[in-house]
Amino acid sequence: MKDIITLAIESSCDETACAVLKNGREVLSNIISTQIELHKKFGGVVPEVASRKHIENIPMVVQQALDEAKVTFDDIDHIAVTYGPGLVGAVLVGLSYAKALAYTLDIPLVGVNHIEGHVSANYIQDKDLKPPFITLIVSGGHTHLVEVKDYGKYEILGKTKDDASGEAFDKIARAMGLGYPGGPIIDRLAKSGNKKAIDFPRACMDEGYDFSFSGLKSAVLNYLNAKKMKKEEIVVEDVAASFQEAVVEVLSKKAIKAAKEKGYDTIALAGGVASNSALREKLTIMGEKQNIKVKYPSPILCTDNAAMIGCAGYYSFINGRRDDMSLNAVPNLKI
Ligand code: KG4
Ligand code: ZN
Repeated sequence: MKDIITLAIESSCDETACAVLKNGREVLSNIISTQIELHKKFGGVVPEVASRKHIENIPMVVQQALDEAKVTFDDIDHIAVTYGPGLVGAVLVGLSYAKALAYTLDIPLVGVNHIEGHVSANYIQDKDLKPPFITLIVSGGHTHLVEVKDYGKYEILGKTKDDASGEAFDKIARAMGLGYPGGPIIDRLAKSGNKKAIDFPRACMDEGYDFSFSGLKSAVLNYLNAKKMKKEEIVVEDVAASFQEAVVEVLSKKAIKAAKEKGYDTIALAGGVASNSALREKLTIMGEKQNIKVKYPSPILCTDNAAMIGCAGYYSFINGRRDDMSLNAVPNLKI
C-alpha cells in the first residue's frame, strides 16, 4: 500500500505548529514556534497578540516542516488542521492557511478536534497502542476522563466543573509570582518541597468522575493571604508540593477508578499537564498495584504540537472524513 503523507497545522493557542507524518504515526518533522516569551509579560495568553503572531509565523513554520521532513507540497496527500476548541482568532489563522493549501494543491482537508489531537499523541509515542483504553486529558483548557472506544470514538465519563487542572497550576503560580506557564515551574519547585506540609482539600472524591479545582485554588490563595497578613514566611516549595499533590491525587484516583470500574487495563495521559512528573509517577505506581498500564507521551508531544493533530487527522482521513472550504473555527468544540 502507498504511504500516506499528512501535513498538519495547529494554532489554537500560543503555539504556531506544523508537522509532516508518514502513515499517521511516523513523525517526519514537528516544528513548534512558541509565543511563551511574548505572553509572559502579561501573565497569560493575550488572544489578539497570539493571532497576529500566528500570521507572522505560519508561512515559515510550514516551510520548515517541509524542509525538515525532506518533502515538497507535491508529496502531501492531505492536510489536517485544528478547527477547535481554542481561541477563535488563533484557530482561524491556521485553518485559513490550511484551507488555502488544500484548495491550491487540490488535496483533501481534514478538520481535527484539538483535544482528540492530545489523546492521539499517545499513538505516536507508543506505536503498539490501540483503542480501547481510558484517557485522562489534562491541559490548560480541559480536564476530561474519557473512554476511547475506537479511533475517533469517545465517551466522556467526567470533566471539571470549573477550572481546568493546567489553569489551576497557572493561577497558583501567578499568585505566588512565579511566572508563566505555571505548571512546569510548580513541578520543578515541588521536587524540593514537602508534599505533606499543608493539607489542602481534595475535591469531588465521592462524586463519580467529575473534577473541581476552584475550591483548592481558593484554599491555596487563602493560605498565602493568611501567611502574608501574619507576616509569616511562605515556603514556596512546600506550597507547590502540597498543591500539586492535591491535584495529582484526585486525578490519579479517579483515573484508576474509571479503568477498574469500566474494565480497562490501560490509561493514557494527554495534554500539557500529562508532562507533570508527580502525576506520571503517582499514576504509574497506583497502576502497577492494580495491573493497569499507564502511558504518557514525551513532554514535547504533551504540550501543543502539530504531530498529534496529524495523527488524529490521519485516522479521520482513512475513516473517510473530508471537509470543504466552509469549515469554520469552533472555539468551544467538544470531543
Ligand atoms: O496542552 P497544553 O499545551 O495547552 C492547552 O491545550 O491547554 O497545556 C498547557 C498547560 C498549561 O496550563 C501548563 O501550565 C501545563 O499545561 N503544564 C504543566 C506542566 N507542563 C505544562 N502542568 C503541570 N506540570 C507540568 N510539568
Ligand atoms: Zn492543547
